[in-house]
Amino acid sequence: MSEWWKEEVVYQIYPRSFCDSNGDGIGDLPGIISKLDELKALGVGILWLSPVYASPNEDNGYDISDYRAVNPEYGTMDDMDRLIAEAKERGIRVIMDLVINHTSTAHPWFQASRDPASPYRNYYYWREGTNGKLPNNWTGFFGGSCWAYDDRSRAYYLHLFAPHQADLNYHEPKVLEEVKEILRFWLDRGIAGFRCDVINILWKDSLQSSPKKAVLTGSDHYLSLEGTHRILREIRNILDEYDAFTVGETVFVDTKQACDLSAPERRELNMVFGFEHMECDQRIVKWFKTDFHPARLAKALSRWQQQVPWNTLYLENHDQPRSVSRFGSARYPIHSAKLLATMLFTLKGTPFIYQGQEIGMTNFDFTSMAQVQDVESRNIDALLRSWHVPARQRWRMIAPTSRDNARTPMQWTVEPQAGFTTGTPWLGVNGNYRFVNYASQKENPDSLLNYYKQLIPLRRGSETLLFGSFEPLRISDEVFAYRRVGTGEAYTVVLNFSDKPQRVPYVGELVLSNYGYNRYDGLLQPCESVILRERMDDHVKTK
Ligand code: NOJ
Ligand code: CA
Repeated sequence: MSEWWKEEVVYQIYPRSFCDSNGDGIGDLPGIISKLDELKALGVGILWLSPVYASPNEDNGYDISDYRAVNPEYGTMDDMDRLIAEAKERGIRVIMDLVINHTSTAHPWFQASRDPASPYRNYYYWREGTNGKLPNNWTGFFGGSCWAYDDRSRAYYLHLFAPHQADLNYHEPKVLEEVKEILRFWLDRGIAGFRCDVINILWKDSLQSSPKKAVLTGSDHYLSLEGTHRILREIRNILDEYDAFTVGETVFVDTKQACDLSAPERRELNMVFGFEHMECDQRIVKWFKTDFHPARLAKALSRWQQQVPWNTLYLENHDQPRSVSRFGSARYPIHSAKLLATMLFTLKGTPFIYQGQEIGMTNFDFTSMAQVQDVESRNIDALLRSWHVPARQRWRMIAPTSRDNARTPMQWTVEPQAGFTTGTPWLGVNGNYRFVNYASQKENPDSLLNYYKQLIPLRRGSETLLFGSFEPLRISDEVFAYRRVGTGEAYTVVLNFSDKPQRVPYVGELVLSNYGYNRYDGLLQPCESVILRERMDDHVKTK
């Protein structure tokens, strides 16, 4: 099997918020097609679409009601075929989100399963409570219990996410057979692979209560179990027939589990999204934010670089706050965003850009819960309210962490609604679009967007940046430095996360500074990043 996905850069689109072509305030497939030239110019090789399937949108498409249909809000199957074809003409492959841990409760399988006599009954986990109690003590990812009662069924069903997302039961073999057909349906249409939603929790070994109360009570019954590995191998058999690839969203994995899920010889996933580096500014759960400590980020990244042979590189997605708001300096936002980009494209792995990251979009400017739509934020808010947490404190916890921070409409131009729509956008546009927008950055040679356009070909054109080994050089409170060592040459990357100049005298010819400098004298400016290149004989001379 070729490993074509190692050399590409992936661009994630959250379709609802990317580009609206018909003025209904909702991004759509024709809107995406209209921007393909921009993506090509950026240097993107793979486009990952967050779900575009039919869905009641309780969780914006992560609650699917028909795996073989396009949500009419986004367009038609013809639009989808056109997107795949037009992307291909530009050398871009399209991957889709595969959400198979759960379906929407509006899915016909679930509706049928509400009848205890239905052949679909066993597609889900239906259980009666005992003595008026819930079937077990598990808690869900969005807070609270993960059992919902259905009057018609006179039983509870399991939902590890929102109540409208019912977990599929892989103990019923027909479920996996259905999934395989869905895979073929899309692969036959020209899809190049899948991002697999919460894929390491598919298999539940039993539904017993957990003795351990934890952040996610019950997770010992479903995190990365052998049953999941077995399912992944079956999925992989199909993917290999099409030379397609998978990236798994894998929750609560350490580097060992990440390797078990993605090592080439195990033939499961091709790579995973780990979360450790995204937890460097929180305590226990994301709602308890701490200050950002660059050394925590660097340590986590460095460990994953050394222990997982090939993996994803990402700093943002539709579930995470914006990276520049989280990890950047308020005094040097543009330099920080460029520094983060330097890191993203010079570590080892496949880089993922989330829409808007390339122009430095920031967290939302909302001032109250009334502006938030994210089902997770709303559930957590309700839970905190039930614990009598005052509104002000609830907002302080939710505002910096809400997933809507990443979901505000893409900022294309200085026109009203940032050029995203001619109508009323489904979610508020960030008022900073007048300064942070695609069109102005395209014209400005010093912009973040144009810095991305320098970094992507640099990575693509260098065997060492693509495949060289990773060696950490320095992880201090403020500076993260590492080398990528290839044949006959090495790159040294130095990232000054601090607002102060730092003396860091590494050697090599300066390839790129985020200040636009063309010489490096060992003194880094605030939030400066540099990429230096040494030929090995230079290195010997300096010793
Ligand atoms: C992870 C997805 O990224 C997130 O957006 C979604 O809410 C959950 N999985 C449930 O599907
Ligand atoms: Ca639309």
